[in-house]
Amino acid sequence: MDWGMQNRLASIINPKTNRCVMLAVDHGYFQGPTTGLERPGETVAPLLEYADALMLTRGVLRNTIDTGTRAPIILRVSGGTSVLKEDLSDEELSVSMEDAIRLNVSAVAISVFVGSEHEKQTLTNLSRLCDEGQKYGIPVLAVTAVGKAMARDARYLGLACRIAAELGAHIVKTYYCEGFEKVVNGCPAPVVIAGGKKIEERDALTLAHNALSDGAIGVDMGRNIFQSQWPVAMIRSVRAIVQDGRTDAEAWDLAQSLMG
Ligand code: 5RP
Repeated sequence: MDWGMQNRLASIINPKTNRCVMLAVDHGYFQGPTTGLERPGETVAPLLEYADALMLTRGVLRNTIDTGTRAPIILRVSGGTSVLKEDLSDEELSVSMEDAIRLNVSAVAISVFVGSEHEKQTLTNLSRLCDEGQKYGIPVLAVTAVGKAMARDARYLGLACRIAAELGAHIVKTYYCEGFEKVVNGCPAPVVIAGGKKIEERDALTLAHNALSDGAIGVDMGRNIFQSQWPVAMIRSVRAIVQDGRTDAEAWDLAQSLMG
């Protein structure tokens, strides 16, 4: 791997801990004005100092994020569907690599929909993006998107993660599930988990802790941070688990003290 690629990866994944806390606020790319992200710049401002990277779209980046931000940017570069469609898998690449570089991103992110109607299209999108990333030293984060009809079990997620890594993704993002260690063990690229739908704060911390214990290198979490009544307490507590090796019980103590 060349120096630029390594350096960008090291800006996202702390080389001392080999772990990372990504803050995901890209939900609007197919969901529109998601709860908590009506004014994304205001939502993320108090959270950025606790995030190792910020995942978002170019429209939100350009319009709402201060150009002086120190947070490495993971730019979502797939899209083309909306929640109004039954099938969300019909995605294309939505940003050129040139524009991603102009935006000074540290990585690009793309969803793949294994087992969906547009499986081949989304997987070849990933392959093309990896080729482009290789040219310019830009790492690729592959998101194993889950269709409504698909089970979020270790067999399915293990298959999707492995395929994403085989096609060249540098980091794979997926969902936590029963038997998650099988998903991680079968994936030659580092794995991070999405938080999924908003759940109780205590449960979200347990989710993060379990994922780390099972081999994930971190989280790419959105709603369980920005939809919490205590977003700063949540990201700091998740960070305590990921970067400081705290248990979920210790992180919950921290969360409660920060919630006041
Ligand atoms: C959507 C995404 C989101 O970034 C992802 O779902 C993370 O957010 P959350 O923790 O809210 O699930 O990649 O495809």
